[in-house]
Order: sequence, then structure tokens, then C-alpha cells
Amino acid sequence: MSNVTDTPAWQKLAAHHDKIKDVHLRDLFAKDASRAAKFTVEGAGLTLDYSKQRITEETVALLAELAKERKVAERRDAMFRGEKINVSEDRAVLHVALRAPSGEVIETDGHDVVPDVHGVLDRMAAFADKIRSGEWVGHTGKRIKNVINIGIGGSYLGPEMAYLALRPYSDRDMTFRFVSNVDGACFDEATRDLNAEETLFIVSSKTFTTLETMTNAATARAWAVEHLGSEDAVAKHFVANSTNTQGVEKFGIDTANMFEFWDWVGGRYSMDSAIGLSTMIAIGPDGFRDMLAGFHEMDEHFRTAPVEKNLPMLMGLLTVWYNNFFGAQTLAVLPYSEHMKRFPAYLQQLQMESNGKHVDMAGKHVDLQTGPIIWGEPGTDGQHSFYQLIHQGTKLIPCDFIGFLTPLSALAHHHDLLMANLFAQAEALAFGKTAAELTAEGSPAAQTPFRVTEGNRPTNMILAEKLDPKTLGRLVALYEHSVFTQGAVWNIDSFDQWGVELGKVLANRIIPELEAKDEPTLGHDSSTNALIERYRAHK
Ligand code: F6P
Repeated sequence: MSNVTDTPAWQKLAAHHDKIKDVHLRDLFAKDASRAAKFTVEGAGLTLDYSKQRITEETVALLAELAKERKVAERRDAMFRGEKINVSEDRAVLHVALRAPSGEVIETDGHDVVPDVHGVLDRMAAFADKIRSGEWVGHTGKRIKNVINIGIGGSYLGPEMAYLALRPYSDRDMTFRFVSNVDGACFDEATRDLNAEETLFIVSSKTFTTLETMTNAATARAWAVEHLGSEDAVAKHFVANSTNTQGVEKFGIDTANMFEFWDWVGGRYSMDSAIGLSTMIAIGPDGFRDMLAGFHEMDEHFRTAPVEKNLPMLMGLLTVWYNNFFGAQTLAVLPYSEHMKRFPAYLQQLQMESNGKHVDMAGKHVDLQTGPIIWGEPGTDGQHSFYQLIHQGTKLIPCDFIGFLTPLSALAHHHDLLMANLFAQAEALAFGKTAAELTAEGSPAAQTPFRVTEGNRPTNMILAEKLDPKTLGRLVALYEHSVFTQGAVWNIDSFDQWGVELGKVLANRIIPELEAKDEPTLGHDSSTNALIERYRAHK
């Protein structure tokens, strides 16, 4: 595939950008009363109002042309067909199969994976029901009340994000916690007030080799055995989610209590696989299946809607527009929902591990900027913290606002205030306030320059009816496919993550150096040597 920057659509977009880069959203709205309607699309139960983006109809047409030239739809179809589009690992990318209805056929290497997916889902459901009903009891006969997911990265962020998002739908008599960090404080805090007799550990790891997870799992095992007085307790207090049967066996977890997934599920695309077991125990199998149905709805929308009406494609293309033509370095994701607190963190891995790449599919260094930095916090908290820089700083920060029409809290008045703030922020960012307006309002002349907000800050407004399992599935799939679209335009492999390897290898070399009884011979650079020596001297 040619360099994206050499394609006709890219060059047209560059010329078009030159023309419209200084056009203000104030003027675009003033000129066209139907702008909001024109740039609002609905799909899979979500509404995307992207009228407050710095675009015209020509921009959308050119972005669609770019998608066509970069064969985004062809690459998407190849993913759905189970082709090995993760070239550097020679793997299929089939998270869409995790939510395919039973009876659908999705093959990779000539094998239909959908029956496997449903087989595991059924086993997970049977297990979740046993825990929720109290049929499954711990080693001493007590009901399980606490569930601790041990995992990191994709084996942690999705489960924690989903649990917090769907907490109102969860069994409130149960406690759910997440141990990810190898910092012992993480394990200590998660377990300090829990009774081991009532605690189930779910060891979640695709590879079952990850240092943090294996260390925390070993600590949990020792904790459980110490508190329960017997190695036999492991069988009742540990289950595993993994692709590595041998690793699970070796750790001492009965493979009857292992829920499997497959190498074609990327870690950051795995919250709807067996990795979602804690979510399923929290909200029940029916709730989990609703979430899968939401994912699937968005998959179908992504697979079938034309680019101009395709929410994830539009969002992906807009990300390219700001990232590559306006030089924006970041994208802020700002959910107006307390329950969606960890959604930005979840999206950090999804987006940054997927599209933080410096070579293209052929291994050649790219000649352009790839994935943006993703960050964010829930509104309204962010408003009283970093929004100042978005409003008046010198950096262009496109924002995705996410709102829900129906509140989950009975405090309806709060919801009016929350939504008013959401709409007001998008309005203020787009239109700002001019010096003339401020003067007319009586602003003291000396203060006016400080009070001017230039506006023309681009935003998406994503609205859903209500935060529930189905909506969460739709939202996650929306971003998954937006990431896919970006990666396809840049022609990078969005499904590998080699960049995280070097740090892991070096840590494994340093661990014995920190723990050696005798003075080790250090062969690092002078800075790393000094840091190790300082730590050893302090130990
Ligand atoms: O270090 C990155 C990574 O490989 C992620 O891609 C993955 O989600 C995480 O580590 C955890 O891996 P595992 O599920 O194999 O423990």
C-alpha cells in the first residue's frame, strides 16, 4: 500500500485544510441553519452530533474518499472474515466473534469459532449463577461474597471499567475488587478487610505469564492457604480466564475452573470474552448477554452503514483529520457520568496500545503522526480542573463528550444540572465569547482580554438513552471500530504491542540484581547502575 500522504484524497484534504483551517464554527453555524441536522447521525442506539467539528460537507466527502482509497471497508471485511490482519503476529482479529449470535458462522483457519464462544459463555453463565445463588461455596462452606479479579492491562481495565459503569445493575450484596499493580499495596488494600472464606479470586491473564498477574496470583494463593489452613482451599477459591491451559494447570487451578479464550482475541479487546467473568458475576448472565448484544449491534452498524452514516468510521476519520491536518496531539474523552469514571482509562489502552505505532504494515517507518494521546475524566469534575486549558490554552484539544438522557440516580435535579453543564461546555468550546460581546456585557476593559474565549474548539457529542449493559457494549464497540478505522487509514497494525516488550525484558534482568545477596556486576548505563545501587544500599 502506498504512503497515505501520497494518496489523492490526502492531498485534497491538505489543500482543503488550508482553505478552512481558520473558518470559525460561529460562521459555519450562522451560515447554515440545518448544520446540526446535517451532521448528526444515529446508529446502533447511539446519536453522534459532530456538527461542532471544524468541517464542512466537503470535509466529510474527502474523508470518505480517503477511507475508500485506504480500503477501510475491505480491511474491515477481512477482519470479519477471520483473515490474519494482525500481520506481525500472524493472527486473526476476531473480537467481533465474541458477540456474534449463536448460529452465525465466523471461521479462521477453516474453523468456525462461534460455537466455541457460546460454549464458554454457557460455562461462564453456569458458574456465575452458582456464585450468585450461593450454590458454590468456599472451602469452609461459606457463600462467596467477594470477587477479586487479578489481572492487568486488557485483563483488568475492561472488567473494572465495566463493573463501575454497570454497578447499579450489579448484585449489591457482593463486593468486587481489582488487583492489577505489582505494588504490594494494591493486593493489601484489596484484601485487608475481606474474609478469605468468602472470597473468590479470578486470575485473568491471556498468556498466564505476565509478571504482575503471576506475582499477585501467587500472593493471593498464599493468603488464601494461610487464612483457610489448607492447599485444598485453592480449588474453591481460584478460577482462571486464559488461553494458556498448561500455565493454569501449573499454577494449580483445576482446568475445570478455567474459562478459555483464544489467540485471536487481543488483550485490549477481551472484556467481552472470558475476561469478563467478574462482570458476568456482578450483573448476571442475562445482563452480560445484553452487553454482548449491544456490542453486536455496533458491529453490524460498522459492517453495513455507508461511511457518511457510520459512527465509528466518522469518529475514526475525524481523529485522523485533527491528528494529521490540525496537528492535534491528544483527544479528550469526557463522559458526563460518574459511573463512566474509568472509561477514559479503558480507552487509553484500547487506543494507545493499538495505534501507538511507528511502522506500517510492511515494517516501514511511517511518515506521519499515528495514534493520538487519549485522556479524560468525567464531567463535571474535569470542568473544575483541566477544562481551562481546553477553553483558553494554546493547544487544540478535540473532545468527545458522552451523555445519557436518562439518569441512573433518582436525584433528577442533579441530572438536569449535569446535562446542562454537558451541553454548555460544548457550546462554549465551539462559540466562545468575543471581546465585543464581553464589552457589551459591561466587562471592564482591563479584564476583557483575559476573559475572551476564542471558541472554535471541536467536539463530538455522543448521546445514549441510558447507561445500561447494552449501551456500554455499543459504546465500547464504537471506539474499537474508530480505532480500527484510524489504523486502516494509517496502514498500521493496530493489533500488536511489541513496544511494551523491551521494558518487560529489562525488568526481568533487573529483578535478580535488586534481590542478589552479593554485590551484582551491573552492566547498564551509568544512570541505571546508580539507581540500582541506591536502591540496594537503602534495602
Ligand atoms: O503489556 C501489555 C499486555 O500484553 C497487554 O496487551 C495485555 O492486555 C496485558 O499485557 C496483560 O496480558 P495478559 O492478559 O497476558 O496477562
